[in-house]
Amino acid sequence: MAPKGFPTDFLWGGATAANQLEGGYNEGGKGLSSADMIAYIPKDQRSKELSHAMEITSDRIEGILNGEIQARFPKRDGIDFYHRYKEDIALFAELGFKVFRMSIHWSRIFPNGYDEQPNEEGLQFYDNVFDELLKYGIQPLVTLSHYETPLGLTQKYNGWVDREVVGHFARYAETVFKRYKDKVKYWLTFNEINVITISAFTGGGVVVDRLDNKLQGMYQALHHQFVASSIATKLCHEIIPDAQIGCMLARMETYPNSCNPEDIRKAQLANQMNLFFTDVHARGEYPKFMDRYFEENNIVLQKEAGDDELLKQYTVDYISFSYYMTIAVAEKPTGEEGVGNLVEGSVVNPYLESSDWGWQIDPIGLRVTLNTMYDRYQKPLFIVENGLGAYDKVEEDGSIHDPYRIDYLRKHIEQMKEAVRDGVELMGYTAWGPIDLVSMSTSEMSKRYGFIYVDQDDDGNGTLARSKKDSFHWYKQVIASNGEQL
Ligand code: BG6
Repeated sequence: MAPKGFPTDFLWGGATAANQLEGGYNEGGKGLSSADMIAYIPKDQRSKELSHAMEITSDRIEGILNGEIQARFPKRDGIDFYHRYKEDIALFAELGFKVFRMSIHWSRIFPNGYDEQPNEEGLQFYDNVFDELLKYGIQPLVTLSHYETPLGLTQKYNGWVDREVVGHFARYAETVFKRYKDKVKYWLTFNEINVITISAFTGGGVVVDRLDNKLQGMYQALHHQFVASSIATKLCHEIIPDAQIGCMLARMETYPNSCNPEDIRKAQLANQMNLFFTDVHARGEYPKFMDRYFEENNIVLQKEAGDDELLKQYTVDYISFSYYMTIAVAEKPTGEEGVGNLVEGSVVNPYLESSDWGWQIDPIGLRVTLNTMYDRYQKPLFIVENGLGAYDKVEEDGSIHDPYRIDYLRKHIEQMKEAVRDGVELMGYTAWGPIDLVSMSTSEMSKRYGFIYVDQDDDGNGTLARSKKDSFHWYKQVIASNGEQL
């Protein structure tokens, strides 16, 4: 019989990343990470490219470190979760969260990335956070690496390009699995692993001006992450037999702009190039279509003996992904370009509305994506990011009315439910940024996703006080009714 709605053990919650949330960038023995190098750039100085501030040069890092470059680095401060986690978790509990997605800031545990011994104060911090979550019956879902490569690894190895980093990551993974084995049962290896081929610094702490062949370097770094992910999967199963560990993709469902076969083929290729990452994680091998891509782009991957077997043997337990928008492509694009630099040949889809940041809103696309991915992999799926980045206005009485956010989420959850009824095995849903946090792509505070408002502006001014938006009450009722009252 087809399911009528969400399973009773469906994991509702919210998702965050340490570098956008915690702050305390130089407290508790933490080292610097790639995210600590990303400055705020005012809107009028930005390019349309999504990764405008995410790529960085060696000179820039040096200038930042020696103080020649003065700027504001919002990801160093986050929203001060480091000191306010108890208050924030109490609010998540009030929302009725079953699960809270967060990441461990790798450089809190291994300040340089290559240290032999972990930093006890960093380990203790996450013990405190997990204890606080479990006190309310909220399961932590932990990402090992969410755009937070320790800067020491960039300086010593140019990040993930160097095979040595695999071993350092394995030590980090083993350390946290052993430490938190009784507290954390859901893990993810690399956040949006495909982003390393869009912004190598964000995804892998790789500075591209140090590469002879940029594409070769990016795919080599990616190969190392695939291997590291399989090693982490193996370790996780050995150390925490009752845990599940998954991968994470920034899903870019891509439509042809027309039924012209040229557009169809272009969209097909874009989808293959996006799903290639989960193909490796879930099926345990590089798909054949990548051979041609590698050949045509002069990419020769350096693999070590045993890599292929490792990928094959230690595939993920479940597949998670972020979903914000869809893309349309044309072989011969005309008119306005779609959201910058994600897929070549992108055009604006006239059937869809866009957010204030140009991200095209497509609830039905989520159902399409869920069906496509489940058909392809037959593994459980988990939507670990979805939401609307929007400007919010605080009324004189302190209330915040955000019907646009409720509308966005409602329509996506409706389609999610349709997909469950289609037979898709869906484990859970964690809305992105349940509490306002620093934007990944723009480092703005004003691009807000939260149910909980945080009083801080783009320049870092504000009391950091937390308050509930209308969507807070709405999402609480969604969870309490297991997705029936939308
Ligand atoms: C995902 C990232 O790409 O999108 C998050 O995993 C990020 O870190 C989220 O915050 C939303 O993007 P942005 O740029 O609006 O913060």
